[in-house]
Amino acid sequence: MPALANKVYFNYGGQGPLPTPSLVAIQHCWETIQELGPFSEVVFPYASRTITELRQRLAPWLGVPPQRLAFTENVSSGCVLPLWGLPWQQGDQLLISDAEHPGVVAACRELAQRHGMELASLPVQDLLADSDSAKAAVLERLERALTPQTRLVVLSHLLWNTGQVMPIPEVATLLQSRRPRPWLLVDAAQSFGSLPMEGAADAADIYACTGHKWCCGPEGLGVVAVSERLLAEGRPTLIGWRSLSQETQAGSGVHADARRFEVATSCLPLFAGLQCSLQLLAGQGSAEDRLALIRERSLQLWQGLQASPHWQPLLEVAPPAGLVSFTGRGGSKSASQQPSPRAMVSALGQKSIWLRSLESPACLRACTHLVTRASEVDHLLSQLNRLAELA
Ligand SMILES: Cc1ncc(COP(=O)(O)O)c(C=O)c1O
Repeated sequence: MPALANKVYFNYGGQGPLPTPSLVAIQHCWETIQELGPFSEVVFPYASRTITELRQRLAPWLGVPPQRLAFTENVSSGCVLPLWGLPWQQGDQLLISDAEHPGVVAACRELAQRHGMELASLPVQDLLADSDSAKAAVLERLERALTPQTRLVVLSHLLWNTGQVMPIPEVATLLQSRRPRPWLLVDAAQSFGSLPMEGAADAADIYACTGHKWCCGPEGLGVVAVSERLLAEGRPTLIGWRSLSQETQAGSGVHADARRFEVATSCLPLFAGLQCSLQLLAGQGSAEDRLALIRERSLQLWQGLQASPHWQPLLEVAPPAGLVSFTGRGGSKSASQQPSPRAMVSALGQKSIWLRSLESPACLRACTHLVTRASEVDHLLSQLNRLAELA
C-alpha cells in the first residue's frame, strides 16, 4: 500500500489505502477499455463481465443472492436511492438512531418534510458496555420507541462514532413481528470489510456499503443489498439506461432485480480495483479470521488508552471491531486547558500520524486494520501521551 510508506495511518474508517495490485488492476482495466474500445462491440462484453464478476464475488460476502445487489457510488447513494422509492404516507414516522451519519440523517429529514412525516430518535450512542448488553438495550429501547406509525428504522451495523456493534438480525426479527412492518435501513459504511455481514445484510431492507473504507477499494464505488420485499414494494428513483431491463428500450420497464437502482455510465476500472482489493482481503482469511486480527490491534490500542493517565476510550470494554474512539481524561486540567480533538489531529498529523476527530460525541477516533502493526499502535500511544503532557 503506497499510502502507508510515509505515514502511520489510522483512518481506515474514513478511507482505506489502495493496495498496489488494485492500483495496477485499475490501470490495466483502463488500458483494456482503450484497447478494445472505448465504445465498441468488443468492449461491451468485457465491461459486462467485469461488473458481473464483482457482483458474484460480493454476493457471498454479503450473504444475499446477486440479484439483490445494486452498484452505487457510495454509502449515501446506497441509502438514499432505494429509500426514496418506498411507499411513504403523510403521518408515517421515521425512527433514526442518534449515531447515524449526518448525510443520512439529512436525507431522512428532507424525505420527512416532503411527505409530511415525523422523525423520532432511537438513542444508542450511550451504549458503551459489552456487545451483549448493547444488544439487550437496543432491543428494549426499540420495543419502547416503536409506534403504529413507525415505518422506518435507521441503524448502522457498526457505529462510526463509538465503535459499538448493533444487533441487526435481532432488530430485523423484532420489526418483522410488527404490523405494519417498518423498513430497516442499515448504514454499513463501517461494517463492510470489517465485520462478518451475512445475517445482517440479508435481514435488512437496505444494507448500504462502500468499497473505499475497510475493503481498501477505490473511492466512487459502493454496493447496496436490498430485500425481496423492497423489490416488490419499492419504486426506482433515479432512472437511467442501466435501470432498464433492455437498455435501448425506454418502454421495456426497469429490471426486476436490484439493478433497477443502477443508473447509467459509471467508471469500470473501479470495479476491477474493488475486485482486486476484495481478493486480497479474502487471501487474509475468513471474515471471522480478519476481524480477529483487526481486534488484536484495537485491543492493544484500547488497553494502552485505558492505562494512560491522559486518555480514555469511550467503550468500557475491548472494541468489537477496529474503531477506537477516545477523549482526554481531564485530570487536573479544565476542559478549556485541554487540546481540542481537532488540534490533536493536526499535531499528530505533523508527525505523520493520521487519525480523525468527531463532533458528536467530541472525541478522537483511530481505526486499526489488518495491516496495522503493533509498533504503530505503540507509537500512536506514546505520541498521544507526549502531546498531552506538553499541553
Ligand atoms: C457511518 C457512515 N455513513 C456514511 C458515510 C458516508 O460515506 P459515503 O461517502 O461512502 O457515502 C460515512 C463516511 O465516513 C460513514 O462513516
